[in-house]
Amino acid sequence: MITPAPSDVLVFFGATGDLARKQIFPALYGMVLAEELDVPVVGVAFSEWGLEDLQKRARESVTAAVPDVDDAALETLIGLLRYVDGDYRDPATFAALKESVGDAHRPVHYLAIPPVMFATVIEGLAGAGLNQDARVVVEKPFGRDLASAQELDAVVRGAFPEESVFRIDHFLGKEEIMNLLYFRFANSFLEPVWNRDHIASVQITIAEDFGVQGRGSFYDSAGALRDVLENHMLQIVALLAMEPPAYQGYGAVHEAKANVFRAIRPLTRNDIVRGQFDGYRDEPGVARGSDVETYVAARLFIDSWRWAGVPWYLRTGKHLPATVHEVIVEFKKPPQALFDDAMMAQHPNHLRFRLQPDGEIALGARVKTPGEEFVGEQRELVASTGGAAARRPYERLLADAIQGDRALFTSEDSVEAAWRVVDGILTDHAPAIRYAPGTWGPTEADTLIGGDGPWHDPSLRDSNGRK
Ligand code: BG6
Repeated sequence: MITPAPSDVLVFFGATGDLARKQIFPALYGMVLAEELDVPVVGVAFSEWGLEDLQKRARESVTAAVPDVDDAALETLIGLLRYVDGDYRDPATFAALKESVGDAHRPVHYLAIPPVMFATVIEGLAGAGLNQDARVVVEKPFGRDLASAQELDAVVRGAFPEESVFRIDHFLGKEEIMNLLYFRFANSFLEPVWNRDHIASVQITIAEDFGVQGRGSFYDSAGALRDVLENHMLQIVALLAMEPPAYQGYGAVHEAKANVFRAIRPLTRNDIVRGQFDGYRDEPGVARGSDVETYVAARLFIDSWRWAGVPWYLRTGKHLPATVHEVIVEFKKPPQALFDDAMMAQHPNHLRFRLQPDGEIALGARVKTPGEEFVGEQRELVASTGGAAARRPYERLLADAIQGDRALFTSEDSVEAAWRVVDGILTDHAPAIRYAPGTWGPTEADTLIGGDGPWHDPSLRDSNGRK
């Protein structure tokens, strides 16, 4: 295989925005520190800013995110910055960008902008010839639904060949998410039990204890379904549910994941509970009568040989009691009641993947309590994962995009198959149910999980006393 040539300039749209401030500048700094970034970085925005404003923003952003800033690395990053200000609908903006890009002839354009602007920017790039030998990195959500994703894809593919399109889902750049793939297929003990014969249900929680953090206007156009469930959560489902990739290589992983999305039964209104935290409608940028969900719980089924009949329960939301991402795979009970107390345990065995804030993989099992009686207690065998070496997801992903490595990006097939899962419920759903901030969302979600519940509370200490 021919190794793709690295890009020689990084252009990023949305340079004055929230994503840039919170994630992108710290990632660029990390890339400089790791000697992965030495090409010019051109910020583009429509904010009436100048280069000094952008440099100031970069300094503030890095200092706020990184504990012990390496001054030399930060100054190197500042020295790489350029800035173009202008309306994305105006060809003059792209003419100015072309000038700023100068002699570079393999740009990578990163669109850290609201999805409604994607098509405009891509057309602007093509109009100025900035798509030649270039790559484009597109943020999620890629489209608003299946139809708009297909339309957007037509625009993108009109200007860039598929191998130059990088659809980003930053969860795929997280160590803990990569570890799902690794743990499943680097071990042999899992495969015999990783199916409907042994697994009772799976729960995935992506909980956040904060609200929309000033992103009301973006969030009100997305909601939890588009913001997290359709992408981050379904990616986790795919990594857990996929068949073993047919060969060593990411093409095989992409294909195996897309096959999971294709096998997921499209969600209907009875499969979900939507919630909205009290006070959401008073957030700046949010429509007063908004019915957008800040919480969603879903029950889905994967109609495949491996997973037939196994319910997958997903929930995500803002203003929940904790910020924690966790997967619990519940195994079926032993077939015979040899020990009464063990049979009383709802799920004596589980595998728990803590993805955030700390990486952990734990196997839940019953262990006999010392004494005459055959009684025991729930314990966990725990392995910590991740750790200090973990890089910021955007650091990894942008460095990969510069190098032309598409392994951790999503394919159009996958994106469309994932939209197909949620397409019906984007419009056909019951009104969002209000919930108080700091709670686990509407109690109707308990009815949804029913006898497979209760929902696991990932903020609780486990039996070993760990949080
Ligand atoms: C983003 C969503 O994609 O992911 C946010 O837009 C969410 O609403 C965030 O908070 C969660 O990602 P992380 O990496 O901060 O846990």
